[in-house]
Order: sequence, then C-alpha cells, then structure tokens
Amino acid sequence: QTGIIAQYSNLCIEEENLAEFVETFRNGKIKGINVTLPHKEQIIPLLDDINPRANSIGAVNCVLKTNSTLIGYNTDWYGFSMLLKSNGIHADDKSCLIVGAGGVSKSVVYSLIQSGVKSITITNRTLNKAGKLVDHFKKISHHTELTSIPLDITKIEQLNPNIIINCTSVGMSPDFSHTPLPDYPFHSRQILVDTIYNPLKTQLMKDAENGNAKTINGMDMFIYQGLASLDLWLRMDISNQVKYKGLKDHLTQKLS
Ligand code: ATR
Repeated sequence: QTGIIAQYSNLCIEEENLAEFVETFRNGKIKGINVTLPHKEQIIPLLDDINPRANSIGAVNCVLKTNSTLIGYNTDWYGFSMLLKSNGIHADDKSCLIVGAGGVSKSVVYSLIQSGVKSITITNRTLNKAGKLVDHFKKISHHTELTSIPLDITKIEQLNPNIIINCTSVGMSPDFSHTPLPDYPFHSRQILVDTIYNPLKTQLMKDAENGNAKTINGMDMFIYQGLASLDLWLRMDISNQVKYKGLKDHLTQKLS
C-alpha cells in the first residue's frame, strides 16, 4: 500500500541464542526487530536503552536500531488499546480477568490501567508469576484494583468478570483443541478477547460463542502493534497512511 520496498521475515531464536542474535542484529543490516514469545522480557538487559513506557510495562516487543544503539519499545499495549477502541469496547467501568502472566499480559494490564478499568484479576498456571505482576502494576495503578487468583474454574466462576482476556499461548496453532479455561461457563453479558490470531477462532472463542459471549480475536492487536512498529522503524506515519480494512482482509484471508 505504501510503495516502500522493505523486507520483513520471521526467525526462530532459541533462548540460549538470544544474546548472540542481538549482537548479530546490532552489527548487521537489519534495521529493526519485533520480539515475540518467550523473549519479550529476557531481551531487556541485552539492549542499550528502554523507552520509559516499555520500562513501566516490563516487556519489549519492538527494537529500534540507531547506528548500533538498540532501543527497546512496547507497541503491544497500544495494539491492545486500539483493539478495544476499534471493537467499541468501553472498558472503563469493567471488571477484567487476565489469563496468563507473561509478556503479553503485562502489555494488556498496562493498557487496561490506562483505560481506567474498575478491577483487574490475573490468573496464571504458575500463581506466583501472577502475584509478581500484581505487585509490579500496583505501583502505577491509582484507580484500578489489582488481585491474583489461582487458575481454577470455580474461583473464576465466582469472580464472574465482565471481560476475560486470554494472554497465554494455549490454543495457538498448532495447539488447536486446547483452551486455558476448559469447561468455563461463559454467558451472554461477557466479552472474551483472545490475543491469539492464529487460528482466527480458538477453541476458547468457540466455547465463549457457545455461551453467547461476545468474542474478539487478537488480529486487531497484532495489526496495530505492527503499524506502530513500522512508524518507529521508518520514522514515518505509516499507521495513518494505510487502509486498515484492506490490510485486515488480506491477513484474515491468509489465516483462513
Ligand atoms: P508472552 O510473552 O507471549 O506472554 P510467555 O511469557 O511465554 O509469552 O507467557 C506465556 C503464558 O502462557 C504464561 O502465562 C504461561 O503460564 P506459566 O507462567 O505458568 O508458564 C501460559 N501458558 C503456557 N502454556 C500453558 C498451559 N499449557 N496451561 C496454562 N498456561 C500456559
């Protein structure tokens, strides 16, 4: 759409090779990188500087190279905020449940605090990671109540959150049949956001649809974080130059 000649490709980097990769990136031709699971937190000490917002979030999903200086940014939080906006979700007075406590969860919690939600409860398979996230964000949250609970369906049923957001990798391709909330009884006054976009409809989304909840996948978050990354790398207002619908239709078709 923009006529810019550029290349973007994916690389699989094992955890033990991350530091070596960062040095190759620093000294090579690549201008910028996006960082995805499980490196969003581990990459921070390998960079030269962190943007203040990414520092508050504690996760980096985009790195900008200027000469050979590497600066970490977070565009995931913006991607999630735009997902809420573009789907007409007014989260301000809502109770939210975040499933997962990794890099994506941090960005989502930050975005929800910015939206001024009533409460955020974090649940995770490893409970102490959820507790650490709560402690981290309590420092910057003045109005939003933050708590953690075990990943237990009965406890989540009692909580009865307005919005449930899956920030785990459970259900992501090729793990199609799994869900992080097996047998959770969704209902029609709930909204489920799955930050996964591949597949476009996860098992969790199917379960939520069966309970007549509104469902949203992670495609809008994915696109908006990517556009914000392009704005940083190319130092241009790409996000306002592209036709969003054409982009979304193209990606949706590719993943269908
Ligand atoms: P990201 O940066 O994308 O958030 P991550 O940091 O690897 O990725 O986090 C993945 C999340 O998915 C974690 O919350 C993880 O739970 P643990 O902290 O207990 O590892 C969660 N997750 C991964 N596999 C899971 C599974 N089979 N059941 C429940 N949660 C799972």
